[in-house]
Amino acid sequence: MTDTVAVDVIDRIAWVRFNRPDKRNCMNPTLNRQMLEVIEELEFRPDVGVLVLSGEGSAWSAGMDLKEYFRENEGKGLGATRAAQRQAYAWWERLRWYQKPTIAMVNGWCFGGGYGPLFACDLAFAAEEAQFGLSEINWGILPGGGASKVATELMPFRKAMYHAMMGENLSGKEAAEAGLVNEAVPLAQLRDRVTAVCEVLLAKNPWALKATKDALRRVREMTYDNAEDYLIRAQEAANSFDGEGRKEGTRQFLDEKSYKPGLGAYDISKQKA
Ligand code: COA
Repeated sequence: MTDTVAVDVIDRIAWVRFNRPDKRNCMNPTLNRQMLEVIEELEFRPDVGVLVLSGEGSAWSAGMDLKEYFRENEGKGLGATRAAQRQAYAWWERLRWYQKPTIAMVNGWCFGGGYGPLFACDLAFAAEEAQFGLSEINWGILPGGGASKVATELMPFRKAMYHAMMGENLSGKEAAEAGLVNEAVPLAQLRDRVTAVCEVLLAKNPWALKATKDALRRVREMTYDNAEDYLIRAQEAANSFDGEGRKEGTRQFLDEKSYKPGLGAYDISKQKA
């Protein structure tokens, strides 16, 4: 727990929250610094299996802090601007390649710079009541900090272009239809739905999850042949961390006949440490 980031670890789920509700959780340099410290502290803890990122109050995050991140740093010169950018991008990058599965639980406003951590999370669930916007055009800049890239990565091109140029918001439901998030549910059900997803992830082989999420991100930018080769090598590298996992999965299906991979996961509690 820090000034700007709240954390609870409950039943192996780390509930990390942007914690500047009075400022709609916009990201100032202090938050960006503290968020990196918090997620790094959680990353290899044995009592944490999944990380959920949400926001205190009515916002998920209203993007970058126009005062402390943009205006005040501009007044201090290029060095200050670059330092602030690196601080923000550092924790989004850490999250994109995080050891544990990550879920964005978008409870409210999600604007501009917020698309960086949104994309960094492996999965995203929104409240139907949430509002998503590339509001940069409304105050006179382009969607930077990765936001333009996120829009084109997650949305079809015409939808991304409309979203970026028009400065109109999408509801949680519309964001799900456009591909920005996996699903939208009423706010009152959001935490339960995310908890249920976490429970599924917690029952799966954690090495396989890390290898899978990295693979999905990496292959997007590869040719088919490069991807095929990368996937062979990534699986063989994963085998060195998780020597017994896949063998146990195979054993329970072929020998014990206790489950079917097509219908659910093997029992990882029977696996040797
Ligand atoms: N940067 C700096 N301050 C922000 C902020 C941001 N991105 N978003 C909200 N705040 C501040 C407001 O200035 C206000 O501060 P004050 O209480 O000192 O006056 C406080 O947070 C509450 O915001 P307010 O606008 O009164 O809340 P609201 O619930 O009526 O509206 C938003 C919420 C998110 C629609 C509105 O705050 C907004 O448009 N924020 C900017 C969003 C944006 O363009 N972000 C992109 C940045 S890349």
